Amino acid sequence: MSPFRLTRTLPEDATGAALRADVRAGLTGSPKTLPPKWFYDARGSELFEEITALPEYYPTRAEREILLARADEIAAASGARTLVELGSGSSEKTRHLIAALDGLHTYVPVDVSESALTGAGQALAAERPGLEVHALVADFTAELALPDTPGPRLVAFLGGTVGNLLPAERSAFLASVRALLAPGDALLLGTDLVKDERTLVRAYDDAAGVTAAFNRNVLNVVNRELGADFDPDAFAHVAVWDAEQEWIEMRLRSRTAQSVKIPALELVVDFAEGEELRTEVSAKFRQEGVRAELAAAGLDLTRWWTDGEGRFALSLSVAR
Ligand code: SAH
Ligand code: TRP
Repeated sequence: MSPFRLTRTLPEDATGAALRADVRAGLTGSPKTLPPKWFYDARGSELFEEITALPEYYPTRAEREILLARADEIAAASGARTLVELGSGSSEKTRHLIAALDGLHTYVPVDVSESALTGAGQALAAERPGLEVHALVADFTAELALPDTPGPRLVAFLGGTVGNLLPAERSAFLASVRALLAPGDALLLGTDLVKDERTLVRAYDDAAGVTAAFNRNVLNVVNRELGADFDPDAFAHVAVWDAEQEWIEMRLRSRTAQSVKIPALELVVDFAEGEELRTEVSAKFRQEGVRAELAAAGLDLTRWWTDGEGRFALSLSVAR
């Protein structure tokens, strides 16, 4: 059994304070919004794992196909001794990469979901004797303090999660990733690609209703943490394709006119019938856009791989 360590980079109440600030700003603004990182309590992480197995949700399978086919190439190109994974979740696909990285010394999974980190990290430490697993409970959009471990460093950001950041957040985020790297270190980035609207919408509005439950779960989080009285069933799950922005937008649409109390904020929020709360965007990409965004952050795209059906891409870029 190899070492497994877990570090919380935030003091216990930082999460509470951040949630209160986000919920106040998001629900008093117009249109109403909530940031997606609050989906992922233990239940949210479980629901996300269910989403990855849905017939309609192709990105996980497509990305796994690429990782399986290219793990050796990625390992050879990066020669990483430290692998940092942002938004690692279950680390399920990452194990293929870890297996290919012969000289790997430390794996640093970073996630806001402590339950996901604990489950995944302990399993990995048991699987790969000698590998140090140092999990970080942290917000990857904030400044990260990484453990001092040997280079070269490879940062992996899989699952198309980069698409859940808004464009301005994305450029700030890529610059902060670049700051974690020394020249020659690499970023492995998973990006879902622009494709026909029907395929995209179905991936975020499955027949079994798992994505709908995942979307509504954010209301359960606000109820539990802030004492709010949202009735999740009073909101309909909506997924729409915005062809101009090239992103899927997930929303919760109020089925009736209703008022919701949020005691921890001393706030009452009114929803009109049909009013929509935006909970997430999931941007879809094209190679030239990805290349340009990486270049602006000081990262040179060197490899671009897609699955056999051209649905999803993994890119490798190198810090200048
Ligand atoms: N990488 C996994 C999981 C993707 S889902 C996969 O490809 O299947 C997105 C993951 O990012 C979740 O585990 C979620 O808890 C985490 N996450 C979302 N926002 C985050 C943030 N701001 N900081 C850290 N982790 C975050
Ligand atoms: N990064 C994933 C994506 O945008 C996250 C995700 C998948 C997701 N399905 C979801 C988020 C459904 C919210 C709802 O594809």
